[in-house]
Amino acid sequence: MRVHHVGYLVKRLEKARNGFSSLGFQAAGEAVYDGCRDIDILFMEKDGWLVELVSPRSEASVVAKLIKTYKNAPYHLCYEADDFLAELAELEKSGLTKIDSPAPAPALDGRRVCFLMSPHIGLVELLEGPPPAAR
Ligand code: NI
Repeated sequence: MRVHHVGYLVKRLEKARNGFSSLGFQAAGEAVYDGCRDIDILFMEKDGWLVELVSPRSEASVVAKLIKTYKNAPYHLCYEADDFLAELAELEKSGLTKIDSPAPAPALDGRRVCFLMSPHIGLVELLEGPPPAAR
C-alpha cells in the first residue's frame, strides 16, 4: 500500500487551481466530473506530491456536508493497493469502517475506490492499483 494523493475539499475549483498553481503545482490532466458523487475533480502535482481537488456541484453531493464543516481543507489521504479487496479487508480488520461500497472513480481511469472511517485518523481512501501491465 502506497500513499497516492491528498484529497482537498474546495469550494471553487478554478480558484483552488490558481491557489495551488501559485505554490508551484501543475494540473495533471483536465478536471473530471464524477456524476455518482456530483463532484468536480482535478489532480495537481508538485515534487511527487499529488493533490486531488474535490468540489461539490450541489447540496446532493456526498461532500456537500463535509465542506460545511471543513471549508477549504485537506480531508483524506488515499492509499493505492496492489491487492484491493485483500487490503480493504485488512483495513476493516484493523478497526476502520467502510462508509461506502467500492465504486469506479472516473478521475482515476475507472479504478475502484472505497472510503473508510477511522475513529482516530478520520477518512481514509483505498484505491485499486493499476493493472499489472501498467505498473
Ligand atoms: Ni481521493
